Amino acid sequence: MPDVLVTRRMVDAAMAALDGLGTVEVYTGPPTAMPRAELLTRVAGVRGLLTVLTERIDAELLDAAGPDLRIVANHAVGVDNIDIPECTRRGVLVTNTPDVLTEATADLAWALILACVRRVAEGDRFLRAKTPWIWDPRMMLGHDLHGRVLGIVGCGRIGQATARRALGFGMRVVYHNSRPLPPEVAEPLGATWRSFDDLLAESDVVSVHCPLTPDTRHLFGAEAFARMKSSAVLVNTSRGPVVDELALAQALRAGEIFAAGLDVFEREPEVEAELLDLDSVTLLPHLGSATVGTREAMGLLAVQNLAAGLAGSRPRNLLNPEAFTG
Ligand code: GLV
Ligand code: GLV
Repeated sequence: MPDVLVTRRMVDAAMAALDGLGTVEVYTGPPTAMPRAELLTRVAGVRGLLTVLTERIDAELLDAAGPDLRIVANHAVGVDNIDIPECTRRGVLVTNTPDVLTEATADLAWALILACVRRVAEGDRFLRAKTPWIWDPRMMLGHDLHGRVLGIVGCGRIGQATARRALGFGMRVVYHNSRPLPPEVAEPLGATWRSFDDLLAESDVVSVHCPLTPDTRHLFGAEAFARMKSSAVLVNTSRGPVVDELALAQALRAGEIFAAGLDVFEREPEVEAELLDLDSVTLLPHLGSATVGTREAMGLLAVQNLAAGLAGSRPRNLLNPEAFTG
C-alpha cells in the first residue's frame, strides 16, 4: 500500500522532492484527470494525498481513503475542489500553494486585458486566415487603457498584484470585496471600494480574482453584463463557474460588453461552444500560474506541506488549523 498518492505528475524538481516520503504512487495516465473510480481505489490506505484542481475531495473520497489519511496537499491556491469542513471533521489537514503564484497570475490577467482591449488574438487569427488587408485608419479598433478604470472583483493577493500593474498603465483602480481593504493596503494602489453594481457601471476593465464559493457562482450573469459599459472588457483568471458562459456569449453578441478574456471555464476542460465562435473572446487553457519558475515553486511548496503533514508537524499553508492536533 503506498504512503502517498500524487494525482498528476508535477515538474521534475517537485517530483524529485518526493524522495524520502515513503512509497509514492503517481497517476501517469492519458491527459485526462485520473478517472474517479481509479482514484477511489488507489487512494485506499494512503497517508498523504497530493492533488490538483480536477480532483474532488469529498466525503466519498475520504471514506475510500480510510482513517490513515493525514493530509491533502492541493497543488493550487484555489481549494473549491476540497470539502474542507468534511476534512476537518475527520482530522485531515488541508493545504494550498498561495503567494508563489501571485505575480505570475497577475501577469496573465494583464495578458488577457491587453489581448481584449487591443484585439491581439483576433489580429493573429486574422493574419493566419490569410485575409487580404491593407493598413486602414478604421481597422480593428480597440480601446485605450490610459485614464480608464480597472475594477477588481476579489481584491486579495492576486487582485492586489493585478491592481498594482494598473498604475503603470495610467489607470485608476476600484475594487469590490465583502469588506474594504485596510487603508495601508488600499492607498498605495490608489484603490477605492465600490459596491459590486457600482463597480460594474464604472469600470472599463473588470478583472475577476475571487474564489469560487456558493456566493460567487454565476456572479457574472445577464444582470451583471447589462450593468457594464458597452465598451467594457471582462477578464477571468479565477474559477470558471464565477461566469455564466452562455449569458456571456449572449451579452457579447448583443454588444452589451466589448470583449472577454477567459483562462478558466465553467465545465473545464470543456469550453462553451457559443464562445468558440466569437472573435471578441480570447481563450487560454488555464495558464494563470504556468511559468517555469512558478510551477516549480508551487510543486515544491505542495511537497513541503505534504511532508510536514506526514511528519506530524504544522504545514506552512495549513487551511484548517482546527484539524491540527500537534
Ligand atoms: C490554479 O488555478 C490555482 O488555484 O492555483
Ligand atoms: C487567492 O487566493 C489569492 O491569492 O488572491
